[in-house]
Amino acid sequence: MKSSYTRLPPRSAYLHIPFCKRRCFYCDFPVVPLGDSASGENGPGSQSIQSYLKLLLREIDLSPSGPALSTVYIGGGTPSLLSPLQIGLLLEHLRNKFGVLCGAELTMEMDPATFDKDSLEGFLNVGINRVSLGGQSFDDEMLAKIGRAHRKQHLIEACSLLNEAMKHGYLKSWSLDLIQNLPGQHLESWRQQLNQAVETCVPHLSVYDLLVEPGTVFAWREGRGELALPEERSAEEMFLLTSLTLRQAGFARYEISNYSYPGHISRHNRVYWNGSGWWGFGQGATSSPWGQRMARPRTREAYRKWLDIQDNQGPDSSLFLEKASRSNLDELILLGLRCREGVDLKNLAFHIGWDEMECKKYLPSLEQRWEVALEQGWLKKTGQRYQLTDPYGMNLSNQVLVEMMIWWDSLPPDVVDSPKFEELQCTFAD
Ligand SMILES: C[S@@+](CC[C@H](N)C(=O)[O-])C[C@H]1O[C@@H](n2cnc3c(N)ncnc32)[C@H](O)[C@@H]1O
Ligand code: SF4
Repeated sequence: MKSSYTRLPPRSAYLHIPFCKRRCFYCDFPVVPLGDSASGENGPGSQSIQSYLKLLLREIDLSPSGPALSTVYIGGGTPSLLSPLQIGLLLEHLRNKFGVLCGAELTMEMDPATFDKDSLEGFLNVGINRVSLGGQSFDDEMLAKIGRAHRKQHLIEACSLLNEAMKHGYLKSWSLDLIQNLPGQHLESWRQQLNQAVETCVPHLSVYDLLVEPGTVFAWREGRGELALPEERSAEEMFLLTSLTLRQAGFARYEISNYSYPGHISRHNRVYWNGSGWWGFGQGATSSPWGQRMARPRTREAYRKWLDIQDNQGPDSSLFLEKASRSNLDELILLGLRCREGVDLKNLAFHIGWDEMECKKYLPSLEQRWEVALEQGWLKKTGQRYQLTDPYGMNLSNQVLVEMMIWWDSLPPDVVDSPKFEELQCTFAD
């Protein structure tokens, strides 16, 4: 008989703010562009923001209760289009609903050119203690080419405001997002980007590889043969340079895309990677309480309708199951391998309810599939733990993950299809 387990209730919450000044050419997130002079309390877009916030607060109030939160992440979109008062109201509702632990990590995503010293002070006064800054590039030409609303000078100013706040102890940490492998980028221009990022003294960096997402301006350009992405060889050199430069600058690569100085790892992001649950609130937001994943509607009207139903019928019981008997092992391995500490296969298998016999029966064939990766030095095994090596394994992670997926697909249906981590998409038309 298979064992089932009860996950601990979530201690983390994600709030989605679906507004931006413009939609960047690479971005497919659920956001509404409000124009370059948008702001949360008055001016263009403020009515739309205010009516959305009412829905968001309603969703928080409707949620089942849970233990006090240890991490909160207000992401988007561009949450810094909101005023400090509006951010404070969101945090107050979370405090009333769940409580927020003393020492909790409260992160907010901010875009350069959407805040100044006063508004930053305001955000910190209402409780924000970590900022994730969407820089992407220090090159004005590149920023224009990827459709960003800010320029290098805005980014430099934003970095120095955040450093100043951290120096005075008002901000615990901050992070900078950069995108590598952008059209027209080459080794030397990327080296300059990395050096400028290091010079800002930022304590945490997220470096993402460009993904050309369907439906974006970039995808359209690619379809017409007008997107000059770096050649594969050049992209590989840039990946290696990123790892080397940041290591030399004292950063630890603790996840494929994330680099941190000691003491500045993002606690909230670890919740996604280690399979813990989180509450998610807002249009297009994903939540995963008790291992049951749920994506909310991506448009305002569909989100409103969905909320009305929650309001009339009480929280959907399929959404807020207290028991999730099994989650997907493949997903836990995939997320775990992204992190520096890697995965202990047997531990993960036990975690999702496999017994000793199942482990003996199914895990060796995965280990066999990974032998080539071990020989090639992409993967290393320490004790029972498999880890991607840095830089080669992390840069070539797909080779390792594909073997794992082939293994997963080869397992008998009753092993992979048993009650598991399900992606529940809301059925309302977007
Ligand atoms: C959802 S965005 C929100 C942050 C903020 N609005 C901003 O862009 O400045 C979080 C990060 O995802 C990254 N990102 C978004 N779309 C991407 C894509 N198609 N490829 C690579 N990185 C992407 C960007 O670095 C961005 O800063
Ligand atoms: S500002 Fe961020 S969320 Fe908004 S469109 Fe650009 S990348 Fe996407």
